[in-house]
Amino acid sequence: MRGFDFRSPAKKGKIAVFLSGRGSNFEALREAVDEGRINAAIALVFSNKADAPGLLKAREAGLETLFLDPKAHANREEYDQAIARELDKRGVDLICLAGYMKVLTPGLCEAFKHRILNIHPALLPAFPGLHVQQKAIDWGVRVSGCTVHFVAAEVDMGPIVLQAVVPVLQDDTEETLAARILVEEHRIYPEAVRLFFDGRLGIEGRRVFILEPGD
Ligand code: GRF
Repeated sequence: MRGFDFRSPAKKGKIAVFLSGRGSNFEALREAVDEGRINAAIALVFSNKADAPGLLKAREAGLETLFLDPKAHANREEYDQAIARELDKRGVDLICLAGYMKVLTPGLCEAFKHRILNIHPALLPAFPGLHVQQKAIDWGVRVSGCTVHFVAAEVDMGPIVLQAVVPVLQDDTEETLAARILVEEHRIYPEAVRLFFDGRLGIEGRRVFILEPGD
């Protein structure tokens, strides 16, 4: 077997979902956990926004939620250190960013190296950043899609786990394209997390290898 830089653990894990908004990807993950498709529990749903609709959904689902006010911390480093302490307390194995609108500090990325996933609504490395569905339309690309990737300190740049392709139609608006991409996000994000906790992801440099069960 090849020597990977990292191999995801085959174990019953603990997930922390980070969100700042409506939380539809969180819900897709929660459903997959509830249905037993992911070998993990959601130990915490965290937000930098007290009124994020996703936090409310998590509370209604009976999950533990936590809001930490960025303004109550001297700087980004201290804020992320406070988050890391909360994650350590709960023994979190994997952070799933799901529409979390704050850039993580290098310190937190390093503390959770290979243990943070993100979903991005474009085919990285094309269209990193924000408003990427509109950027795809404006560029005139024929296909866009979504990407689940490991998070490294550089935004939207970590090793890619899964991607799904979505056609860009001539009469697409930002909203119609985003809605079609979102359907694929809800499919591939739980799939990537499932692979993670089935111990089936191996990382070598920038490449992620999907291993056969029992490999
Ligand atoms: C999604 O489009 C995701 O790709 C991006 O932020 C959006 C979050 O949507 N990172 P939701 O809060 O999961 O509905």
